[in-house]
Amino acid sequence: MNLTVAITGASGAVFGRELLRALEADELVSRVHFVASDNSLRVIAEELDLSGRTDLLSKLLGNAPRKTIQHPDTNIGASIASGSHPSHGMIILPCSMGTLAAIAHGLADSLIARAADVTLKERRPLILCVRETPFNRIHLRNMNLAAEAGAVIFPCIPTFYNKPADSTEMARQFVYRVLAHIGLPQPGAYVWKPEE
Ligand SMILES: Cc1cc2nc3c(=O)[nH]c(=O)nc-3n(C[C@H](O)[C@H](O)[C@H](O)COP(=O)(O)O)c2cc1C
Repeated sequence: MNLTVAITGASGAVFGRELLRALEADELVSRVHFVASDNSLRVIAEELDLSGRTDLLSKLLGNAPRKTIQHPDTNIGASIASGSHPSHGMIILPCSMGTLAAIAHGLADSLIARAADVTLKERRPLILCVRETPFNRIHLRNMNLAAEAGAVIFPCIPTFYNKPADSTEMARQFVYRVLAHIGLPQPGAYVWKPEE
């Protein structure tokens, strides 16, 4: 699989980090195209204590990437900005209300918004892991617009019945649900089996 991943400036950078780590480890994934919005860098610095743009991927992964390549959000000429690029889908985790609005209204004014727009026009899976609380009516309308255009609204709402020991495990199990949804079930995923 060839996937596109974006991290935007909503809270929940740990989710994005765990997604990138899971995709690096998954042998069914051959290439990950990664884009971080400018505003995500501030949130990543706040939440993960990682600062600076240099080597962001290695900092997030904890080691040098094997299959993930990063594109600047300003590079609207990147491969993933074109429908001719053979992508299997795009995940935005976390997805801010600003990025949701840009996608819902087809702005295509950044690489993230353009790649999402292309994903929708090519009828490929687009998973928007939105995060805000509470939602105002603009957020709700934009989620509806994006869903009508084919996106999956997959809010950053983790599960508790698996009794996660910490926020990293909570984020990891959430990521496993996202990956199962896109056809990449993960070996460590918690499965609810009440009859056992
Ligand atoms: C620490 C921090 C947490 C934030 N959390 C959220 C959030 O959960 N959801 C959201 O929509 N915006 C959040 N924001 C605001 C966004 O970063 C801001 O709207 C930004 O313009 C989004 O830009 P982007 O979509 O290009 O990344 C947060 C900002 C900061 C600094």
